[in-house]
Amino acid sequence: MSYLGTTYMGIPLKNPVVVAASTISHRVDRVRLAEEVGAGALVISSLFEEQIQMEQMHFMDQLAVGSDSFPEALSYFPGISHGEASEHLMWIEKTRKAVRLPLFASLNAVSPGGWVHYARQLEATGVDGLELNVYAVATDPAKTGLEIEKELYEIVEGVKAEVKIPVAVKLSPFYTSTVNVAAELDKRRVDALVLFNRFLQPTIEVETESLHNEMVYSSSQELKLPLRWIALLYDRVQADLAITSGVHSGQDAIRALLAGAKVIQVASVILKHGIPYISTILRDIEAWMAEKGYDTLEDFRGKVSQKNCDDPFAFERAQYVRLLLSQ
Ligand SMILES: Cc1cc2nc3c(=O)[nH]c(=O)nc-3n(C[C@H](O)[C@H](O)[C@H](O)COP(=O)(O)O)c2cc1C
Repeated sequence: MSYLGTTYMGIPLKNPVVVAASTISHRVDRVRLAEEVGAGALVISSLFEEQIQMEQMHFMDQLAVGSDSFPEALSYFPGISHGEASEHLMWIEKTRKAVRLPLFASLNAVSPGGWVHYARQLEATGVDGLELNVYAVATDPAKTGLEIEKELYEIVEGVKAEVKIPVAVKLSPFYTSTVNVAAELDKRRVDALVLFNRFLQPTIEVETESLHNEMVYSSSQELKLPLRWIALLYDRVQADLAITSGVHSGQDAIRALLAGAKVIQVASVILKHGIPYISTILRDIEAWMAEKGYDTLEDFRGKVSQKNCDDPFAFERAQYVRLLLSQ
């Protein structure tokens, strides 16, 4: 019988299949089901500081209604203030009580102080670790890549200094040098790197000539991007490597482990096929390990990383020219 146990950021997991931050965590019964069908851990959807700020503005607008004509109207509700992140925090605490599987919180803040402030609050809910969802589209032409990276490091340093739980950083795939950013984060002792954040890309409706945003699930094709970078980073950083984007089957999960991933995060595949699909992925990994004669994940993890594979240049560009010329 194959053993799927592993650790992630120092936390023991019964297997490496982790539910990625998503709407799955919005209902406790779904989190329970994920635990029942065997998920190794679950990341709760992000606390978005931007959303709290928008709600606060709306709240203040509502309080101010009528105050033009009756200035004393603002004093009708003395001491009332917006609950900040309390709803999100209470819901994490409720989820924490309902399940035993390791839970990670996720944070997307917009102000330097916000990262530290909310990280502290999320830690207090009793989660096992924290994922920093550094989702931002760089639109300021005056800001250099170096400045953007420096901001990232300052966020990480601030949060690491503040919390005791392990901290993961969910990276964008758009840094000029992913390996350099990974190495810099590694120096700051992040506990895991999650590759990669999948940005929502709006499209344009031709008929209405307007922007259209929709959540499109990933496909297996998208696995190739994080797979390459996991393979390049394996055994070159201390941080654990988590893969996210495009894991749609047991085979995809095995690919990720062969590249060197410590855990596999899944969202689209279970939103599409249902949460019990986690057990299909786990069965497929086990069956493959049995067929290959592997007892533990360590027997083959990173076997096809750049460091260990027969053709290390395959992850760079050697095959590129050959493939282009063969078409
Ligand atoms: C409906 C939905 C909600 C998501 N919410 C979050 C979120 O709150 N925070 C976050 O970091 N990622 C979020 N993600 C991204 C996923 O965590 C994951 O990284 C991404 O979907 C790629 O994995 P996949 O190919 O398995 O879907 C969300 C994805 C989906 C589909």
